Formats: sequence, structure tokens, C-alpha cells
Amino acid sequence: MNKRDELWWRHGIFYQIYPRSFQDSNADGVGDIKGIIDRLPYLQALGVDAIWLSPIFPSPMADFGYDIADYTGVDPLFGTMEDFDLLVKAAHAAGLKIILDLVPNHTSDLHPWFVESRRSRDDPRRDWYIWREPAADGGPPNNWMSEFGGSAWQYDAATEQYYYHAFLAQQPDLNWRNPAVRHAIHDVMRFWLRKGVDGFRVDVIWHLIKDKEFRDNPPNPNFREGRPPHKKILPLHSTDQPEIHDVIAQMRRVIDEFDCRVLIGEIYLPLERLVAYYGRDLAGAHLPFNFALLSAPWHARAIEKIIFEYEQVLPAGAWPNWVLGNHDRPRVASRVGQDQARVAAMLLLSLRGTPTLYYGDEIGMHQVAIAPDQVRDPFEKNVPGVGVGRDGCRTPMQWNATPNAGFSTSPPWLPVADDFVHENVVNLEADSRSILSLYRALIGLRKKLPQLVSGAYVPIAAEGDLLLYRRQSEGKAVVVALNLGAEPVSVATDAFRPGGEILLSTFLDRQGEKIRGSLDLRGNEGVIIGG
Ligand code: GLC
Repeated sequence: MNKRDELWWRHGIFYQIYPRSFQDSNADGVGDIKGIIDRLPYLQALGVDAIWLSPIFPSPMADFGYDIADYTGVDPLFGTMEDFDLLVKAAHAAGLKIILDLVPNHTSDLHPWFVESRRSRDDPRRDWYIWREPAADGGPPNNWMSEFGGSAWQYDAATEQYYYHAFLAQQPDLNWRNPAVRHAIHDVMRFWLRKGVDGFRVDVIWHLIKDKEFRDNPPNPNFREGRPPHKKILPLHSTDQPEIHDVIAQMRRVIDEFDCRVLIGEIYLPLERLVAYYGRDLAGAHLPFNFALLSAPWHARAIEKIIFEYEQVLPAGAWPNWVLGNHDRPRVASRVGQDQARVAAMLLLSLRGTPTLYYGDEIGMHQVAIAPDQVRDPFEKNVPGVGVGRDGCRTPMQWNATPNAGFSTSPPWLPVADDFVHENVVNLEADSRSILSLYRALIGLRKKLPQLVSGAYVPIAAEGDLLLYRRQSEGKAVVVALNLGAEPVSVATDAFRPGGEILLSTFLDRQGEKIRGSLDLRGNEGVIIGG
């Protein structure tokens, strides 16, 4: 890839690594930076262009690194700053970009800023966090709830005020209305950008600014028992405030001080609100993560509707993106089933916009059941039994059939999936029809055919289990036909040009087959047709 290629993040493919679970190099059961360096050839062969690392910074690990105690260091668990510098060098030499996680909404309660802030009401750092007087009855200042259960306010007896935490009490929220906080985080960004990182994925970016008046949030009329408790109220005043867009535009200006960098935002919002995060005149995030597929019902019409709506609401010039999995959501292979996981891969890699892959999805890793005494995730510990646990999608990468799947020579921090003896990189690489081979073929095809990256999305049909669309640019087109069900489907359509041929089937066994009249799809089959 060209170093001066400003738009690399448009045609590139992103790959998320959860560093704790990718590759352990020092036998402590937790993945690390050296392990990632060792696995760069794998990522190169897969064909991805950029890797995003979940947090690697010093942290007490209350939320596994999303509670940061030092923004410009490396946690010894993951290695040293020298290891990180080596990773950047080695990745760049391999043609891979490095994206870091930026977690500006909150710090660890052990971050020196918070230690100072809680010292006294008149400490110069007091206003770096969100402190409020108790309500008249001595209770929390308002009804805002933590995403991880309970009130979002923690009482601090020493100074007799509450501080706000959108997540754990060990993750106090920074006060983004304070310019000093903005400057401090901008300097953190510059620190890493100078080291050569290619951009950031910004954690919970839609949370940064809260209502100035701290008004109570309204109840959620659609709340049903059995759902996580924080869903009882709508986060109307605690997230997605209009002032957020200035904050992001400022971050973007920092990004733009450097060449060819990217700003990605983590945002769980309905599509029409999500797209505001591109910013006025596209001066916001380059890529506000589009998570619509993470919760999409797996039906042709539902998916078609999402794609269509997204294409409709995208501002002019805004570049789309798609995500099938991440470290917070159940594995796609379990959500849609192993058979459909291949169809999902074809969908992800044939839509317009930048795809982000989650480590292990390319080998079909499934959600691992975690025994109660093995739960590590604080969300599951705080809110047990309603299915919010995130450990099952964070289990060690399955590299080979040796003990612990080649991830570590010691017992790993989370259990390895029980099917690792068969479902591992070595085995799947040797099988030319495996899901891993499919991912490689899809990525290869996407690199070969620009219409798959940037061609217009033209819906053709969404009926029953069939999802059919065309991707076309400058006279070149491909047709994508996905069977989202287990029964065969016959597609009689004039959507295919005479002489068209199958470029790829999810079963990897029909390349070159000519289409005559109709197209027969097997159950759980997707094909890309060119010609
Ligand atoms: C984001 C992260 C998640 C973390 C939360 C709090 O949603 O993806 O893993 O727990 O922020 O930092």
C-alpha cells in the first residue's frame, strides 16, 4: 500500500485484535505485543490492511484495559514501549497499519488525575471529573444509570460529593466540558501519532458530553424484565448531546495535523443519529462504526432494509463501514450459526464501505460457554444471568491443535473453545474449502475488483431467504446472491448478464461456472457473479 495514500482506510480492511487473547509469548496465559509481532505473517497472508488493538496501556484491568491508569505507557502484562515500537515498525514493514484504542470518556480510578481530583473539593484537578452534590435526600444527584448496572453515581465520603461513572465505579468519567481535559487527551493522541500509529478507535465517543443541567433521564416505555437494568431508562441526557460534535471536530483536527491517519468512533445509535458523527462538512469521525449488523435479525428483508436505510442517510461524500463482531458482542458464528457464518462473511466483504473483522471470526470461532466460576467480565459479574457476559467472545485465538490451541504454553486467562483441535488456523489453512480459505478468497477478490469496494450498491431482491444485490462502478458490475436459509433457492432473474460466471461461492467449489438462465443456490450458499 502506498504510504502517502490518504484514503487507505476506504479501501483497506480492518482487523480487531483483543490483545489478551491473540498470542501469548511469555507463558503467563495472557496475550501480548510480542505475540502479535509473531503473528503478523498470518495477518499479511489473510490480506487485511490495518489492525486495531484493544487497549494495551497500564491498567488495573477492572474492565480489562478500558480503565486506563496511564495513557502514554504500555502495561507490563503486554510488554514494553520498546515492544510497541517494534510492533509499529514490523507492521509497517509488512504493509499493515496500526490503530490504537483511545479511551477518553473515563480513566481508571487509579489514574493520577483522579487520585488528585478526589483529594479535595478545591484540588486543581477536581473539575477534570464530574462531581456533584448529593440530592436533597442524600442520594445520587440524578437517576442516571451505569451501563454495568446500578446508579452511575458513586459517593465519595471524604469530600461528601458523588462522581459520575457511565461504566464501573473504577472508571470515573472525565469532564469533557473542561478545556484542560481536551488538551490533555489531544496531547495523548499526538504522543501516539508521533510514534507512527495510523489512527484511533475512540471508545464510547457518543458518551463524552453529558447534559449541562444533569436532568433526569426518562423511563424507557419499552423496557422488559430480563434485559440489562440500565435499559430501564433512556440515556437522553447522558449521551449523544449536540455539543459532542465540536469535541469530535477538535479531535479530528489533531488527527489532521498528521498525514494519512484515521479517526474511528465507537457509537451504538440508530442509523439516522449515527451518521451525524461524520460531522458537519465531514469534519468529524472518518468512520463512525456502523454496528447495525450486530443486532440485525438474520432475514433477507431485514438486512436489505438496514443496507438501504444506511445508504439513504449517509451524508454526501461520507464513507460507509460495516462490522460483524467485536469484543463486546456475541460471536457471529453463534448468532447466525456456523453455516451462515460463511454467508455473513460474504455479506461483510461485498458491501460498500470499510469492513472490520473481529479476530477469530475468520476461523469461525463460536461463543464459548463460560462456567460461573470462570467469569472474568465485570459486566457479567455485576449483572449476572441476563446474557450480557462478554468473556465468551474473548477466548484465546485457536492457532493449532497443541494444548491451549497454541495460544499459550500456560493455562490461558479464559478457556479455549473445546473444538480447537479441529477448528484452528493450521487445520483450516490446509483445507482449501475452509471458512479461513473463504475469508482469504473474499479478501483477495475485494482487492482485485474495485467495484466490490466502492461500486454503488444496487438492491435487486430480498425475498424469503434470498438477498440479491449488484455492486457496480464505471460499467463494471458484480452480482451478490446470498441464501440466508438452509433450503436451496433458485433465482430466475435477468439480473445476470448472459455469459456471467461465478467468481466465488461460499463453498469454494463453483469458480468459473457459467450462469445460464437461472441460478441455483444450495442451502447456506452465497455466490459472487461477474461477467
Ligand atoms: C466500550 C468497550 C467496552 C468497555 C466500555 C467501557 O464499549 O468496547 O469493552 O467495557 O467501552 O470502557
